[in-house]
Amino acid sequence: MRNIRYDNITDAVVEAYSGAEDARTREILTVLIRRLHDFVREIKLTPKEWEAAMGALARAAAITDEDRNEFILLSDLLGVSALVDLADGLEDEGASITTVMGPFYVPETPVMENGADLTGDNDGERIVVYGQIRDSDDKPLSGAQIEIWQNAPNGLYAVQDPSQAEHNLRGTLHADENGIYAFATAKPISYKVPEDGAGGELVRAGGRHCWRPAHIHIMVTAEGCKRHISQIFDLNDPYIDEDAVFGVRGPLAVPYDQQPDEEEQARFANIQRPFNVASVNFVLAPA
Ligand code: BEZ
Ligand code: FE
Repeated sequence: MRNIRYDNITDAVVEAYSGAEDARTREILTVLIRRLHDFVREIKLTPKEWEAAMGALARAAAITDEDRNEFILLSDLLGVSALVDLADGLEDEGASITTVMGPFYVPETPVMENGADLTGDNDGERIVVYGQIRDSDDKPLSGAQIEIWQNAPNGLYAVQDPSQAEHNLRGTLHADENGIYAFATAKPISYKVPEDGAGGELVRAGGRHCWRPAHIHIMVTAEGCKRHISQIFDLNDPYIDEDAVFGVRGPLAVPYDQQPDEEEQARFANIQRPFNVASVNFVLAPA
């Protein structure tokens, strides 16, 4: 390795890492090095541009702490998080499509009754969300656990806003013996992912924006099934086709303004009126 040149450096670097004991680590490093070097060659990255990139990474590190990981946001904004999730679902034939989890999930939120109303004293219109959870053999998943989280009418999640109750607009419930789940909530609104860090710089440099369309996060867990991470989007949100983090999937976008029919009025008789309804079923892949 004494005579490193433009035309042999890539092989030399790959060779230097070839002693990685773990085969998967070796594979990842090899492809990473080759693709990274190809990238630098193809765009003829200049020393000034390299310095700017290192500066952006340093700023991402500086703003990262226990509650905020700017590197995950960069991955989200570059579509890498969405790609990893899509790749993970490629072989889940027959299962509903999943999407990214995002940074605002909190485990072990209060358990509520199936059919509960999470609205509390939040402003905003009410929506009842319901559907059925099944496995890929079409069998209803009795008792499936559904965790829900979303933003408040001020656009913030409870974890971002000390003025909200600790578990505002989030909770855990369990589907009934037919796999049916239901809950009522205050409609979420579109919001911006944090734009005061390296992620914001990236988005502005790319002529984009930081908005995400309104959505409710759902995580479904059932024995024998793969953990299912989803979001239910408002189909009529102005940002539905411009999600900053590429999380929207066609089957997960439903109108948030549907009036309940007679059957739904009767079924959700305990929910304060007026409310709209959205029905979304989830089919889970085997574990
Ligand atoms: C979210 O939906 O909560 C989210 C997802 C990815 C990045 C930032 C936020
Ligand atoms: Fe979100």
